[in-house]
Amino acid sequence: MTFTAPDTDQASPRSPRFPRSIFSVSRAEVDHVSFVVKQGLTDQDTMLDAGLAGYLFILGPAGSLDSPWDPHHPCLLHPTQDGYTPLYNGDGMVYRIQFDQGRAYLKTKLAQSASYIADEIVHNNPNYPNLNFANFGIARNSIYLGASTQLSVTLTPVRFDDNTPYRLLLSVDMGRPHEIDPVTLEIVQPIGLNREWQAVNPLFANFPFQLAMSCAHPSFDFERKELYTINLGRSISGFLPTLRQVLRHIPGLPHIAKPPAAVGSADPLQAPKQVWHQLWHWFSDGVESLIRTGSDQAQATQDTWQSIVQLIDAIDDDDYVELLRWRGAESGGEGDPLCFDRWKIVLEDGRPLQIKQTLHQMWATKHFIVLIDTAFKISLEELLPFEQSEMIGEVEELFRDLADNSQLADTPVYIIRRDDLEAPWQSNPQPRTVTARQLTIPREIAHYVVEYEDKDGIVLHTVHSCATDAAETIRHFDRSAFGDPNTPLLAGMLCDGMDINWIGSYVINPNGEGEAALKPCLIKQDYCWGDPVYAYRNMTLEPSAQVDDMYWVFFGGWEELLSDYVSDLYSDYKYRTVGVEAARQANRDGQAATLCHVHIDRHLNGDQGLELKLSTPDAYTFPPGHFANSPQFIPRQDGDGGPTDGYITCLVFSAPGEADHGKEIWIFDAAHLSQGPKYRLCSDQLNCGFTIHTTWLPEIASPPPNHYSVRDDFEPLVSTLVERYQQSWLSGHHHIATQLRALFDQIYQRFQA
Ligand SMILES: [Fe+2]
Repeated sequence: MTFTAPDTDQASPRSPRFPRSIFSVSRAEVDHVSFVVKQGLTDQDTMLDAGLAGYLFILGPAGSLDSPWDPHHPCLLHPTQDGYTPLYNGDGMVYRIQFDQGRAYLKTKLAQSASYIADEIVHNNPNYPNLNFANFGIARNSIYLGASTQLSVTLTPVRFDDNTPYRLLLSVDMGRPHEIDPVTLEIVQPIGLNREWQAVNPLFANFPFQLAMSCAHPSFDFERKELYTINLGRSISGFLPTLRQVLRHIPGLPHIAKPPAAVGSADPLQAPKQVWHQLWHWFSDGVESLIRTGSDQAQATQDTWQSIVQLIDAIDDDDYVELLRWRGAESGGEGDPLCFDRWKIVLEDGRPLQIKQTLHQMWATKHFIVLIDTAFKISLEELLPFEQSEMIGEVEELFRDLADNSQLADTPVYIIRRDDLEAPWQSNPQPRTVTARQLTIPREIAHYVVEYEDKDGIVLHTVHSCATDAAETIRHFDRSAFGDPNTPLLAGMLCDGMDINWIGSYVINPNGEGEAALKPCLIKQDYCWGDPVYAYRNMTLEPSAQVDDMYWVFFGGWEELLSDYVSDLYSDYKYRTVGVEAARQANRDGQAATLCHVHIDRHLNGDQGLELKLSTPDAYTFPPGHFANSPQFIPRQDGDGGPTDGYITCLVFSAPGEADHGKEIWIFDAAHLSQGPKYRLCSDQLNCGFTIHTTWLPEIASPPPNHYSVRDDFEPLVSTLVERYQQSWLSGHHHIATQLRALFDQIYQRFQA
């Protein structure tokens, strides 16, 4: 049974309808499509300012190879139609808008990582019946191939030499970053070879496409020409907060599967480990003796035992965070240009840093690396393939209740001194350690900006996502928070927030203790509802010594996007500003999507040091029924270079009309948001779905040649797996070995071509 989002005719919410156009997406690749430019909110054709130049990039998921067709739009896909696939899931589609002499042109391209190529080959070829990929919540996995790297989240420009053009990376939380050619939009290479990325968990390790967790927003230091990112390890119990509580009450389980690394340690927990270590060796010796007899039973015993050990190991494996630094081929260093420097991060008491949610975003300042446990939790139930029937849907609902919890109300912040990172550039497979200092910022943070200059303290700007959980998407079994059967919920979309958000800026004293380490400035406005996304001048293009003006889009509140599950999940929110019933009512009444301008004043106040003051001098409220996202600042060509001298672009979704299909790019004067859009870019070939992040480049050029070889990258993994399946006592595995070998030979040929 499939679930279909309600038709617009059947929906009868009290507040403005959420635009259905966001649920449709095209995977067609187009080039040099000319936009029709409309004047303001009128239907009058016009030309763009000459000050609009360069290239706007927007990235977002565009469904999967097996996504269903949209019943209302036969040329488009409706990836969330099944009722459980979230809008986040999909292969990345890059949208590039070129501004040239008053006109704008669209080019689109699917981000075709090696796993995407594998997905396409097995989808179209009946010779690989066991290797197909399928959507598993927010991920796309194959039982024998692993996790597809869906490059759909962020764009990060890098430049290792100021005299060369920008290069461009696509990055995600789950997978390696990849470089694309900004001209052709083709994938150029992954950043870091497979051997340098560890799978998030042993359960996800034995695949050609390992599930590696990283940072969706890596940080590039344009002064020192260094890219920083993260490789994250999580135990299964770390994905399952409830399970972790249970495991803590089972004596010995956390240690049963792992032979001790440090024999002779004073740690009292080492004693059972040492016993286990000895038992393991006795058992292994016995199994190896059996294997030497060539017995099928012995092989089966070993396979089964290894699976058990792997499972137990995976459930409570050590969580870890590794800081990775890439200095590109131009760094002049010796060795492989795709290799990283790496450090395992520990806390001041020596314990490994553990992340409870994600490291969605990180920043390098002049002297520090700043990491935040971001308010975008990924729980195991979001990676599992349920809901193939109504009965299993009930099981999934139960599993969500057990496995899911609310996001952290207090945000852990981790600060590393860059002086502590040893300088020599070398490939180091055994990471050194570096110590992070932990602070806590009250309230949740999903996205934030940290200024590069830090002489007066680390300056951080954000909008707190208060009881606003971007990881909670609506499922087919969810019920409206309002108990009204005539108010449908729109499966796949992010849920409403359950409190109003606060705009916040902080001066952090990296040497301070407790609350004294933080100097906050918080404001809010009536429009601060829904998930926030930011833009500011030069974001991601050069080090922003300080940020004086930012722009935030708020998603607003929508009657059709609040489930009783999320309403209940945040009913006892720690930092509540608006009462629970008032928050529910606010969403029921509808809160308009809003684009606002935040100005940051600062002054040095004697012994008090740097102090910040926030104001919101300008804002634009989108018309009812309009949803806005993906804000981007574009500097005005030949302008004065000021922080508001430019344009803000947004993707805007609305109900399709007779003359449009409900998807446009709106362009604002960044200094005059409240005047409304200056222009709207319209094209029936702008068929994007849910996008978030963007970037802008003043010019584009293809990157220099590289020496990346997909065969060298994957073959060590593939040949090991093929051999393992060939030697398996399960006859079905011999077919898997044959298919794997043939598939990767085909992939290598494809990349060579
Ligand atoms: Fe993000």
